[in-house]
Amino acid sequence: MIRAAIVGLGTWGQHLVGCTQGKSDAIRFVAGMNRTPGKAAEFAQWHGFPILDSYEKVLTDPAIDAVVLTTPHSTHTGQIAAAARAGKHVFTDKPFALTKSSAEEAVRACAESKVTLAVGFNWRFQPALQEIRRMLQEGMLGKLLHIEGNFCGPSVYRFGRGHWRQDRNECPAGGMTGRGVHVVDAMVYLAGRIGSVNAQSLRLVQDFGMDDTTSMLFRFDCGATGYLGTVIATAETWRMQVFGSKGWAEVGDVEHLTTWQLKVCSVDPAKLERRKPELLSFPETSTERAELEHFARAAMAGRPLAVSGGDEVHGAAVLEAIVRSCTDESAVEVDP
Ligand SMILES: NC(=O)c1ccc[n+]([C@@H]2O[C@H](COP(=O)([O-])OP(=O)(O)OC[C@H]3O[C@@H](n4cnc5c(N)ncnc54)[C@H](OP(=O)(O)O)[C@@H]3O)[C@@H](O)[C@H]2O)c1
Repeated sequence: MIRAAIVGLGTWGQHLVGCTQGKSDAIRFVAGMNRTPGKAAEFAQWHGFPILDSYEKVLTDPAIDAVVLTTPHSTHTGQIAAAARAGKHVFTDKPFALTKSSAEEAVRACAESKVTLAVGFNWRFQPALQEIRRMLQEGMLGKLLHIEGNFCGPSVYRFGRGHWRQDRNECPAGGMTGRGVHVVDAMVYLAGRIGSVNAQSLRLVQDFGMDDTTSMLFRFDCGATGYLGTVIATAETWRMQVFGSKGWAEVGDVEHLTTWQLKVCSVDPAKLERRKPELLSFPETSTERAELEHFARAAMAGRPLAVSGGDEVHGAAVLEAIVRSCTDESAVEVDP
């Protein structure tokens, strides 16, 4: 059992504890830390752990094996490196890093201290996504041609003026930093590396804060194309559709955390009769508990997860290329 401290007890930190505490034989939260400790005192008491009043106290506590970071985006890589130097395993929520170089630095610090680093891409634990990957690997969808996705919702209405989420340095390229990174990671999981991006990002609704309308075109190294939209001044929804030369598979719903259903439709190019899509359902699962247990088991076994040149670092390079493309208003090669 890994003994973890939750750092950043806001919305998502409390959600991760709620999904896991007392429900896992791999990870248990034994401490918490928040910038404003009082805000989380009652929650911590309910879940049976103390609130420490500084990150340093977390890092020097020998009864803590790992930290789980659910803090603002710009703090992640610095907190990862500090935890690594203190010999603590690290799980950080997304986005891992805002630049490729800071991602590489964080990965290097963890490798040097021989601690496990994981990034919270819980979508990879969705059975439907795993099924699409299997279908692609086994050729059931034919040659991969194109992936399209969106992940949208009312984020800009949720956070007022001055909230860190409205800070354009914390959330460059609008909803891409908070939401789109999940879809990009899912696309990389299915299609491999992205070679180039062409993106635009605009603020069309409010007169302050982050962009609300961001769209991106991708070219994957495998030759396939893709596009992604994050509109965060609208109602909640998400969708991803994968097109191959023998058919397509589609996932998506209003609620992105419950188990997905998968719609699949095939085509026989030699016999073009119209086929009805098939609907596949999967058993209920908590992807958040699954990602934390995956991390805890790797940490206990001394196994690295996020490594130099791995998908997590690539994801940071894609985000950086998207932000640059929005500024330069041109296509940008992703730093390989
Ligand atoms: N995987 C997913 O689906 C998902 C969903 C939502 C969010 N997230 C991620 O989770 C992270 C947190 O997001 P959130 O929505 O939970 O934000 P939030 O509600 O604003 O919570 C952030 C928390 O971090 C605390 N904090 C700020 N700076 C800190 C520091 N230096 N050390 C320790 N605590 C600090 C804040 O304390 P104060 O209140 O005192 O400022 C607050 O409690 C982000 O990376 C976000 O992208 C992931």
